[in-house]
Amino acid sequence: MTPEQLAERVLCWYAAHGRDLPWRHTRDPYAILVSEVMLQQTQVERVIERWTAWLERWPTAVALAAAPRAEVIAAWQGLGYNRRAVALHEAAAVLAEHGIPQDQAGWRALPGVGPYTAAAVCALALDHDVVPLDVNVQRILERALDATAIEPPAGKGHDLTQALFDLGATTCLARIPRCEQCPLADACPSRGRRYEPQRKQSRFEGSRRQARGQLLDRLRAGPVRLADCDPTIAALLIDDGLAERQGRRLTLPS
Ligand code: ADE
Repeated sequence: MTPEQLAERVLCWYAAHGRDLPWRHTRDPYAILVSEVMLQQTQVERVIERWTAWLERWPTAVALAAAPRAEVIAAWQGLGYNRRAVALHEAAAVLAEHGIPQDQAGWRALPGVGPYTAAAVCALALDHDVVPLDVNVQRILERALDATAIEPPAGKGHDLTQALFDLGATTCLARIPRCEQCPLADACPSRGRRYEPQRKQSRFEGSRRQARGQLLDRLRAGPVRLADCDPTIAALLIDDGLAERQGRRLTLPS
């Protein structure tokens, strides 16, 4: 199968089987950025409602940039990796001041935006002919083409990206792919293979990440006396811009 054949088949499959997700109805770069940052950590089903609420509250980068940091962190509750909320808030400030970057290098210059997110915003909001390489997309390309990247047909960066996301989420699954429903199966060299889990998820229970999340949840409810928190964990939150000292208390940043 050539990359062109893969693109054609996947696009055709997407027209019939693509998921209707709310961020597919917008081309607003800020709104797409918010969706991509949320989707890095959280299941699509959960993101749908959180993304919608977020955009109602802060419909533009200017609105988000003007929000107090503490409110942004509070609103991120349950979305995981709280540093992403801080980075998103900082990125909104840059967008509000300098406007929308028009290429991947411009997006990568924003806080918290790496090569994947930059490519995703360019494909999904700016209609660039690029396909961002998340783990799902990489898996499909590797299995079907033995390739590490794909160039979309002209004008198809947006649709091919969404199509590959959907194929990876519903069909070309990590461990037990559903080849019987895959539009690529008859030409896929990996058809019918099963895969062992690659690595165990690092343990969250008892981890530093869990302790940080728990302390931040307490701060979301109100200031906490420094004497009542683990100083190492408090220092980590302060370093990441997620908390600050006010006298003898720790609070969300002002
Ligand atoms: N995973 C990452 N980005 C996504 C998107 N825009 N839609 C669905 N799943 C995704």
